[in-house]
Amino acid sequence: MESLFIRALSGQRTERAPVWLMRQAGRYLPEYRAIKEQHGFLEMCEIPELAIEISLQPIRRFGVDAAIIFSDILLPLRAMGLEVEFNPGPRIHNPISTAAEASKLSAGGIVHKLKHVLQAIAGLKTALSETHVPVIGFAGAPWTLACYSIAQQEYKHFQGTQVWACQNERAADRLLTLYAETVSDYLLAQIESGASAVQLFDTWAGNLSIEDYRRFALPPTQLIVERVQQSGRPLILYVNGSSHLLPAMRESGATCLSVDWRTPLGEAAMGWKGSLQGNFDPSHLFKPTDYVTEATARMLRSVNAEGAYIANLGHGVLPRTPIENVQAFVNTVKCGWPKSNDNPPG
Ligand code: CP3
Repeated sequence: MESLFIRALSGQRTERAPVWLMRQAGRYLPEYRAIKEQHGFLEMCEIPELAIEISLQPIRRFGVDAAIIFSDILLPLRAMGLEVEFNPGPRIHNPISTAAEASKLSAGGIVHKLKHVLQAIAGLKTALSETHVPVIGFAGAPWTLACYSIAQQEYKHFQGTQVWACQNERAADRLLTLYAETVSDYLLAQIESGASAVQLFDTWAGNLSIEDYRRFALPPTQLIVERVQQSGRPLILYVNGSSHLLPAMRESGATCLSVDWRTPLGEAAMGWKGSLQGNFDPSHLFKPTDYVTEATARMLRSVNAEGAYIANLGHGVLPRTPIENVQAFVNTVKCGWPKSNDNPPG
């Protein structure tokens, strides 16, 4: 039988919600920090044995229902010729300033240059073959990749990319299309290597009005969804700060919408036939454990009674998150739908 995670993704109401956490492998885990003491971040992404080991850490510790491959959304930009550094936040030393510079980026051979990620996915799938825990592949959405790759000058919150797109509309369209094609190839290669589902992270598209989201971010997202759909594998779309963008996200064609903590799950479910993922506030994992347990049960109760649903956070696990509260979150979901559910599953 298909895993709980894949069944929920494909639209089934499952006997309990599957659970995993965005950024489930990271600095809050001592076993991650132990590897980090010996290796740089890029090395951890590029040496398949290390990426596999780090991806397995949260599976072993918490018993989550899916393993996301340890990597980063900026690796494809690096493979396309941008100089990316992590310290620990990302910096690009040669960002794009002009339309001419944008047109020089090349997607050629990108999948080959990222073959270490594909090897890591294949190795992770093998390591998990006894457990049936599926592997999630991922990539950054074109708008978010444009946010990191375009020079920000004096602008904050990646507004430099909005300014650039207004001044260079045709170049922006070409760049976003190039990213969409590159990301599609990369995600399809991840699926071929063993990823059972893929997630597209649009971390910065929440800065856009719904009009600009439809103008710039949605078309390249739709192109990726269309291409990935040919594989028959599900695609999860995460857009941070997206309360105002939900009507447009529903037009993306994604299998599942990953909702941030600002949007009530019930609201996200309105007019949506696919599955939903989310949306526990990552900062609330810093409250007392009893609170986390209660709030997680409350989140489960807020899910539509027939809805296909995957429990997760509304964004990634924060550094220094208390481990026992991550465990409490996972355990509460694994205990099943709360008994006092106002809308028990049919
Ligand atoms: O979810 C997982 O466990 C898989 C690993 C993963 C990482 N980055 C590892 C990482 C995933 C899915 C990502 C995606 C990613 N990377 C996004 C989209 C998701 C999101 O959080 O919005 C973005 C915007 C990036 C770019 C990026 N990489 C940033 C902003 C940072 C710095 C953040 C920080 O925590 O300092 C990184 C570095 C990075 N990527 C780390 C990890 C574990 C921290 C590196 C370290 O150990 O110091």
